Amino acid sequence: MNDDVRKYVYGAVTVFIVGVLVWVGIVFVNACGFSLNCRRGELPIARTPVPTLIPATLPAMEMNSSAAADPDKCHVAAVDLMGAWVDAGASDTEAFQFVDVDGKQCEATFDDVKPLFVDANMWYSGSRSCRSCHSADVAVSSAQLDLSSYEGIMAGSRRADDTSKGTDILGSWKSSLLYQFLTETKTDVPGHDNALNSGLMVYAGAPLP
Ligand code: HEC
Repeated sequence: MNDDVRKYVYGAVTVFIVGVLVWVGIVFVNACGFSLNCRRGELPIARTPVPTLIPATLPAMEMNSSAAADPDKCHVAAVDLMGAWVDAGASDTEAFQFVDVDGKQCEATFDDVKPLFVDANMWYSGSRSCRSCHSADVAVSSAQLDLSSYEGIMAGSRRADDTSKGTDILGSWKSSLLYQFLTETKTDVPGHDNALNSGLMVYAGAPLP
């Protein structure tokens, strides 16, 4: 009885050891054949060929320069600057006049107004530029309104195509679509769900002598 158990144990151990040897042998011969100076186990390359990562830096976010204090310019609410431009006939070249917050009589041109339409970070930190939605391609532009150029602004909204005119957005300032969409928060319209009229003040134009 005792001998039987021993026989089983020895048998099992022998089968196990032989099995391991055969398995290792098969793997070895499979990889190296019958050679004993086989180098397949060595790593082919000592170092990784991937170059060390170049440290990445992001440029600091720039706020728009027109918001920076400039003693030579006039200080005025962005909406009022736009209003003065519209009330003076919204010319692309002719200067228009306005009174700034310090009571100075000032003069500016469309060049002072244009950044408010085409630049990002204008109305509040992180605000998108108007033209990112109201782009030159009327077919895809929000409200079929192109705010990327003077001609686009003049052509108005809800245009049938790139050549036709749409609804005037300027008109009489306080009752214009532009004034409405700049001063009213429209919670259901992307781009207008944050108050654009956060009282943005800009430095623009120049005092009249
Ligand atoms: C994220 C996209 C987006 C941005 C940015 C954006 N708008 Fe709009 N805007 C829209 C959409 C969408 C409508 C259409 C709303 C509707 O159908 O009532 C609209 C409508 C308008 C309208 C009314 C047009 C009409 O006929 O009803 C005006 C004016 C306007 N936007 C001006 C501006 C100005 C000025 C800026 C920049 C200060 C601006 N938008 C930025 C998406 C945007």
